[in-house]
Amino acid sequence: MTERVRLTQDNGVALLLLDRADKLNALDLDMVRALGDRCREIERSNARVVLLSGAGKAFCAGGDIAAWSALSPEEFGRFWLREGHAAFDALARLRQPVIAVLDGHALGGGLELAACADLRIAEAHIRVGQPESGLGIVPGWSGTQRAVRRFGAQTVRRMALMGEVFSADAALQLGIVDRVVPTGTAMAAARGVAQQLLQRGGRASELIKMMINAAEGEDRERVIDTLAGTVAAGSAELAEGLDAFRQRRPPQF
Ligand code: COA
Repeated sequence: MTERVRLTQDNGVALLLLDRADKLNALDLDMVRALGDRCREIERSNARVVLLSGAGKAFCAGGDIAAWSALSPEEFGRFWLREGHAAFDALARLRQPVIAVLDGHALGGGLELAACADLRIAEAHIRVGQPESGLGIVPGWSGTQRAVRRFGAQTVRRMALMGEVFSADAALQLGIVDRVVPTGTAMAAARGVAQQLLQRGGRASELIKMMINAAEGEDRERVIDTLAGTVAAGSAELAEGLDAFRQRRPPQF
């Protein structure tokens, strides 16, 4: 697995770091695949909060534009878009709350990535936008779908259709980010929020995240199955059903 998506954990807080500073953390296919793998690791871990950040001066400048020319249109669809969606979905659907630490620009796929988080903390100097149409391509990692659900269609129109790039303060007013902090302090602010989250019921937070995701249409089927299945798994009915199966007798419900 590429080392350019790093995962570390400390006292219940996982840090997922894009580590390709020389290319402003632009995501290539190896990184996208590693992102999905890392999310599956987090899902199974005992982390209770996830911080998502980028090394160097950018959060993430989007998909690796240079990698596209090596892909046929079929490969672009099959690998770039479908695998990208799988990884971004894994991030958005993590059971743990995720805080995006925007200590640099989040553009294109970088903003789509930040949109997967539950909370976005931005440093005052950063910019967000969806510049894809200026390259002759469309946002492909849910920048018109999840982003519309989370930021609103008009805001996405302004970024994706018109190419508007927003300052951190404008992003705050539009609800793209939740908090703006001075340059150099986003990670500390995010760690403070993580501590607040750790003081709240972890199981309750997990359930609330699932319920809000379902309300947004994110992962609805799995949320319903998980909530209902968890209740059924603790029921006297299941205990009796399992006993009856083992004892080869009809269950007495
Ligand atoms: N894909 C691939 N490489 C990228 C990249 C991307 N999305 N964004 C930046 N890079 C690379 C640059 O090519 C440059 O590489 P080099 O040093 O080998 O030439 C390096 O990262 C630094 O970028 P640079 O443009 O020199 O930094 P800057 O501070 O002058 O500008 C940006 C920053 C973000 C405004 C500019 O890099 C940019 O517009 N990037 C593309 C953003 C974009 O369109 N994203 C949508 C893709 S989905």
